[in-house]
Amino acid sequence: MTTTTTTTTNHEQHDVVVVVVPLPAQGHLHASLELSRLLSATYNIPVYYVSTPAHIRQAQTRAVRWDPLTTPNLNFIDFPVSFEVPPPNPDASIKFPSQLVPAFNSSLQLRDPVTNLIKKFASVSRKVVVVHDFLTSYVVQDVPQIPKTECYCLHTVSAFLAFTYVYDAAKPPVPPEAEVVLEKLPSLDGCNSPEILEFAKKQINARVQGGGNIFSTSRVIEGLYLDLLAKMNPSKEFKHWALGPFNPVEIDATTTANRHYSLEWLDKQPANSVIFVSFGSTTSLSEDEINELAFGLEQSQQRFIWVLRDADKGDIFSGEVRERELPEGYEKRVSERGFVMRDWAPQLEILAHPSTGGFMSHCGWNSCMESISMGVPIVAWPMHSDQPRNALFIAEGLKIGILMREWERRNEVVSAETIERVVRTLMASPEGEEMKRNATELKEAVKLSVMEGGVTQKEMESFVAHITR
Ligand SMILES: *[C@@H]1O[C@H](CO)[C@@H](O)[C@H](O)[C@H]1NC(C)=O
Ligand SMILES: *[C@@H]1O[C@H](CO)[C@@H](O)[C@H](O)[C@H]1NC(C)=O
Repeated sequence: MTTTTTTTTNHEQHDVVVVVVPLPAQGHLHASLELSRLLSATYNIPVYYVSTPAHIRQAQTRAVRWDPLTTPNLNFIDFPVSFEVPPPNPDASIKFPSQLVPAFNSSLQLRDPVTNLIKKFASVSRKVVVVHDFLTSYVVQDVPQIPKTECYCLHTVSAFLAFTYVYDAAKPPVPPEAEVVLEKLPSLDGCNSPEILEFAKKQINARVQGGGNIFSTSRVIEGLYLDLLAKMNPSKEFKHWALGPFNPVEIDATTTANRHYSLEWLDKQPANSVIFVSFGSTTSLSEDEINELAFGLEQSQQRFIWVLRDADKGDIFSGEVRERELPEGYEKRVSERGFVMRDWAPQLEILAHPSTGGFMSHCGWNSCMESISMGVPIVAWPMHSDQPRNALFIAEGLKIGILMREWERRNEVVSAETIERVVRTLMASPEGEEMKRNATELKEAVKLSVMEGGVTQKEMESFVAHITR
């Protein structure tokens, strides 16, 4: 075990400490780390973020605009585990990143060390608050037996998604504005691989009741679905908090020092003229898909930044990253209006830049929250997991985006013509302008929600008051 602490916490009697147990996958690591930052830096609560060495390093390395190692009260504890690190398969018929499942699986080994750690904290603290991912329920299943502990489940997904599972199972009555969206719900076919379903089943079977749910969303975005979820579990002891967005909502992407080259390029482009194309850390496109996307972007004649990366491996520091090929001469040909980057993109800053007018996204929930926070409308091109349903919510629920294609047609390669048409609709049509207006309105609401007296600020204070009571 290695402990990295920024405060001298050993041998001290604690009041309340928070132990955060993320799933070792980028989106989950990121959301958990941002929540840890809020609790430690803003509310001065000692937070211990616990995972494997590779995944702690991954989360730290990819934190944008802040340094997890110098944040007061934020501590990291790693427990070494070993796991296989297969490469992603861009040609798999299901796009779920199965290469990550051995890393997910390795987290099961954290059960005993994490239980012992929490016992140790409980012996020297008034209270230990455990915030675990829905998909690390297995790791924390022994915690309820330890005195002076409380568990809270962090859902790094949309409340809309969480509610769709309830809706699929029980078809509870919903208001008309939810019904028009829910009646178009895509099926879950093709969203997951058998390996991940097996892993998820282990988590569900080990589920602890706990003191409540934390959602990485905001009431101003998903109040309707948060209320519907709360209605399904009306117990006074079980609470629901929407504490997002976890990302900062005000970023000046035009003036900071040591800027990424993509931001310098954006400085030279007209306002709202660039579409940012990125499918997150878990998507591998096939060669055909890359070619169609390349030509589609070119033919759209819109400005673009395209992040072309292979999907993450279970350990992002192990081995080479495969470079994906583009059509011969492509980058030179498009260099007037766009470029392709291959490294990790400062996504939030790109979205915050005034030249960025659209986002072509896989609709992972963090990406949706970041785009909403920055007022950027979305071309929604979901790939797997929760993404098809998030995409529907973005397009039909929030009306800040357009679908690239229906989920039912996921097995067809999307043609360059379709890509061209959809990109033009978002970036160069009255409909696209309206989506931009809608996205801007939502962004303003989110900004107000995190200010003094705002609804998210109040939820955060209610959560902190509850865990420190
Ligand atoms: C995950 O672990 C289970 C046993 O706990 C095993 O049956 C399964 O094959 C593992 N899956 C992968 C992809 O490593
Ligand atoms: C923008 O939002 C309004 C109000 O919800 C909605 O009526 C309109 O259809 C939206 N525009 C687009 C292009 O989705």
